[in-house]
Amino acid sequence: MELQGKVCVVTGGARGIGRTIAQHLSSGGAEIVYALDRETAGFADLPAGIQGVEVDVTAPDQIESFVESVIADKGRIDVLVNNAGITRDGLVHKISDDDWDSVMAVNLKGAFNMVRVVGPKMMEHGSGSIINISSVVGLDGNIGQTNYAASKAGVVAMAQTWAKEFSRKGAAVRVNAVAPGFVNTEMIQSVPEKVIQGITAKTPLGRLAEPEEVANTVQFLASDAASFITGQVIRVDGGLVV
Ligand SMILES: NC(=O)c1ccc[n+]([C@@H]2O[C@H](COP(=O)([O-])OP(=O)(O)OC[C@H]3O[C@@H](n4cnc5c(N)ncnc54)[C@H](O)[C@@H]3O)[C@@H](O)[C@H]2O)c1
Repeated sequence: MELQGKVCVVTGGARGIGRTIAQHLSSGGAEIVYALDRETAGFADLPAGIQGVEVDVTAPDQIESFVESVIADKGRIDVLVNNAGITRDGLVHKISDDDWDSVMAVNLKGAFNMVRVVGPKMMEHGSGSIINISSVVGLDGNIGQTNYAASKAGVVAMAQTWAKEFSRKGAAVRVNAVAPGFVNTEMIQSVPEKVIQGITAKTPLGRLAEPEEVANTVQFLASDAASFITGQVIRVDGGLVV
């Protein structure tokens, strides 16, 4: 899927799914992929074509100066993947204010912080593709993930809203969400083995997703092959229905 010459930004791009997405966009022909992350350890061995940039999605000033420098240098951002995300799991009565606020700050407001700066630039340019990484948990709910589920439902609602907002005035800025099931990354290392076995047993394809399988879907949505797809949420979950 062609991404020839595109300028791409992936948040949380230093490791896990975000890093794999950055690699797919780059090998798909992107001119450059900026992998934004607040942890810089993963930047050292990023392949050529991917540039690590220290940006915390909860820091609007960092986002603004990053976007300004890209627009000054490249003139546009063609693809934005809002991937940065965290979990602070617990049954609802055990979720502290800090657990709630920090998950919302990164997963929900982080995407908002990015898009309120990048979206208007894409509108001015007349085209672009934004992909919010949601989760099946945001569509179906999950025990112990009140905060995470709410944030991931929120990024779907924001994608649908932005699909409408950014297609005004003749612009073709597409906005979609991808909802993976459980994916084999560091994020799920805190999930108890019993839960993983339960998920696997309920998944028709009988296993967790690999990051590449999420990245393939993101790459498709980012590319011109998805030119008439906007406002959608695509599950990458092996058929899991909770
Ligand atoms: N792993 C799964 O099972 C799974 C399933 C569905 C959805 N997701 C979603 O996919 C995305 C990536 O998950 P992952 O498994 O690769 O997680 P991960 O923890 O391996 O990687 C997340 C990356 O985001 C970065 N990050 C966190 N807070 C940030 C901030 N404030 N600013 C910038 N970067 C920040 C981290 O440093 C890290 O590099 C997340 O949004 C997650 O919710 C994951």
